[in-house]
Amino acid sequence: MAREITHEATGPLKLDESDLDEEKGDVAVCLCGLSGEYPFCDGSHRATDDEAAETVYKYDGDDADGERREIEEIVFADE
Ligand code: FES
Repeated sequence: MAREITHEATGPLKLDESDLDEEKGDVAVCLCGLSGEYPFCDGSHRATDDEAAETVYKYDGDDADGERREIEEIVFADE
């Protein structure tokens, strides 16, 4: 269970107290990479519930609603 995610940011995002969830009093940071509100978790990780442990996936548009494909091999441009 892994997935390939493309990130375009080139630096950090600094969080402050305005980022706290008012109901829960915490901040949920997305670690699956599929959130539509990245870097915050929006529940999109549920799309990964049935991923197979030994398979690497790519979601079109890095979006939980995008088509999910299995990655067989990553080929680097300089190979
Ligand atoms: S961990 Fe990515 S949307 Fe929740």
